[in-house]
Amino acid sequence: MKALILFSSRDGQTREIAFYIANQLKEVRECDVFNIQLINEIDWAQYDRVLIGASIRYGHFHPAVAKFVKTHLNALQQRSSGFFSVNLTARKPEKRTPQTNAYTRKFLIQSPWEPDCCAVFAGALRYPRYSFFDRIMIQLIMRMTKGETDASKEVEYTDWQQVARFAHEFAELPSKSQ
Ligand SMILES: Cc1cc2nc3c(=O)[nH]c(=O)nc-3n(C[C@H](O)[C@H](O)[C@H](O)COP(=O)(O)O)c2cc1C
Repeated sequence: MKALILFSSRDGQTREIAFYIANQLKEVRECDVFNIQLINEIDWAQYDRVLIGASIRYGHFHPAVAKFVKTHLNALQQRSSGFFSVNLTARKPEKRTPQTNAYTRKFLIQSPWEPDCCAVFAGALRYPRYSFFDRIMIQLIMRMTKGETDASKEVEYTDWQQVARFAHEFAELPSKSQ
C-alpha cells in the first residue's frame, strides 16, 4: 500500500521537505504528496500510512491542518501516522523536539489525533521574498531571539539528515490492520 504525505506550506520549505521525504521513501514505498489546503476527496483504501507536515506563521499552523484532522480523524487513527512541524524557533537544536518546541507540543496536546511518530524541523529564513511588513516583523523577532537580521540574506536551517532519519522512522512504522 502507498503512503500519503500532506503538507501545509506558505513559502515552500515544508513542501520541499515533504517531497524530500517522498524521495527518501521511493525505494521502499510509493508515496502521494498533496497540499492539505487543496485536497478534496481522498481514496483512503490506497493508503496504510499518512504523514502531515505544517509550517508556523506568527505562532500558528494554518487552520486547514486542524480542520483536516477533525474531518479525517477516523482514517488517521486507523493508519500508522506521523506529524512534522517546520519553524524558525527550531533553528536552535534545544527547540527541535516535539517536547521542547512550544508550537508542536501545544498542537499535540490539543489534537484528538495521536501520531505514531513526530518531528520538528528548522525551516528557512528568506528575507528578500517577504513582504515589507513580514520582513520588518521577522527582523524584529530575529533581533529578540539573537538570530539573523541581515534582510538581504536567505538562510536554510533545515537539517536534511534529520529529515532523512525521520523519513525512515515513518516508513518503518508497523502497519495497523484496518
Ligand atoms: C511571516 C512569517 C511569520 C513567521 N512566524 C514564525 C513564528 O511565529 N515562529 C517561528 O518559529 N517561525 C516563524 N516563521 C518562520 C517559518 O516557520 C519558516 O520560515 C518556515 O521555513 C516556513 O515554512 P513554509 O515555507 O513551508 O511556510 C515565520 C515566517 C514568516 C515568513
